Amino acid sequence: MAHLWSGRFAGDPDAALVEFGASFTFDRRLFEDDVAGSLAWAEALERAGVLGSADAGLIRVALGEMLARGRSDPAFFLTEAARGDEDVHSFVERELVARIGEPGRRLHTGRSRNEQVAVDMRLYLKRRIPELQRAIVALTGILADRAQDASDSLMPSYTHMRRAQPVLAAHFFLAHAAALRRDHRRFAGVLDEIDELPLGSGAIAGTSYAVDVHALATRLGFSRVVVNSIDATGDRDFVSSLLHAAALTMVHLSRMAEDLILFTSEEFGFFELADAAATGSSLMPQKKNPDPLELVRGKAGRVIGRLAGWLATMKGLPIGYSKDLQEDKEAMFEAEETLHACLHAAGAVLAGISINRDVAGAAASGLLLATDVADYLVAKGVPFRQAHETVGAIVRRLIAERRTFESLTLDEWRAHSMLFDAGVRDAITPAASVARKRTPQSTHPDAVAAALADLRQWLRGGQTPRGA
Ligand code: ARG
Repeated sequence: MAHLWSGRFAGDPDAALVEFGASFTFDRRLFEDDVAGSLAWAEALERAGVLGSADAGLIRVALGEMLARGRSDPAFFLTEAARGDEDVHSFVERELVARIGEPGRRLHTGRSRNEQVAVDMRLYLKRRIPELQRAIVALTGILADRAQDASDSLMPSYTHMRRAQPVLAAHFFLAHAAALRRDHRRFAGVLDEIDELPLGSGAIAGTSYAVDVHALATRLGFSRVVVNSIDATGDRDFVSSLLHAAALTMVHLSRMAEDLILFTSEEFGFFELADAAATGSSLMPQKKNPDPLELVRGKAGRVIGRLAGWLATMKGLPIGYSKDLQEDKEAMFEAEETLHACLHAAGAVLAGISINRDVAGAAASGLLLATDVADYLVAKGVPFRQAHETVGAIVRRLIAERRTFESLTLDEWRAHSMLFDAGVRDAITPAASVARKRTPQSTHPDAVAAALADLRQWLRGGQTPRGA
């Protein structure tokens, strides 16, 4: 079997080691990108006067045919000859030479697989990241719908997983949407990082042919050219950034999944899972399990693992290309596939979530109004620390007597502070609590309505793949 590099060797390489080093079984996903890069390179060589126009024309036609075949016929990648190909670059070159012979052998002039793989990875991610962003937008839209349906429903918010303060249920859904919006922007940042053409770097030192790399960049949709050929051939920071963006989005999905798992449980009962988004138990007939949400939560582990594993691969690598870098592909593919699947699964579950208004509202009442009682006293001129202490004493009493603020008579209120008057009954309710909030990021109904309107505007196209 001849390899792209066989010339230097007298004997054949060890078959098992060739298989060990091969990446074609997974990097063939870069086929379209490799052909796109090769078409542009052929043009650049022609313009530089390195390739005659007849040869360039033959290469162009043959690569075009190969692209069409690759798109329509999966068997193209599974032929006997393809089984011997080391990687996607070897595959494309062998197929090209099989079609047109000698001109095909001229395509690799002044080019190295080290820069080819870098440009392929970048082109691939330029195609794929906008798809991930679209899936993020779709999920965010479903959160906006849930926020809208929630209307003025109340629920408790939690800190330390203990009841904290009443909030609008809409505010809870919009909280998860806010994290996803940051994820969208983070991916936009990754797209910007990717937006540099590495071609012209050669194997490491640059190329000896007068290729117009700026024209080549424009031709391939890059807005910049890399600044250093040594760095460029060994740089996979954009893969690290992609993995980080994917891992962090998975972390957000796992937190949302956890909230929904808890809040749809018998113990909380604030929300109800659609039957279609739950599974039964083979043994316990009463069970309605949130399996899809648990899988989303669980799969966050594999994406975090890919990020951690990849950074470990990069750590201590000498600058320039090393074969270790080939590990980038499986990490990237698995991370983006897992994220894509989880964004869709989370959306499918959220689409069927309904609110148990009464249960959630009842849980938003009770001792979690204590801060509002303190604020009531502050409004009457009491220093906050002192108000906190007074209310703490009331809470202690209510816990001992198994009562809530609502059950206190005016005399009982006034036994704790003469500043309480008849208005206290109306002031200390969950609805009054949210209505008392004053800041734009708060759970005040007007603030939440404005946040939802802002989100709708973003969803309608305020976002672009490259922008926030
Ligand atoms: N399959 C290789 C990779 O993914 C392509 C670059 C190979 N370059 C080399 N000099 N062996 O990294």
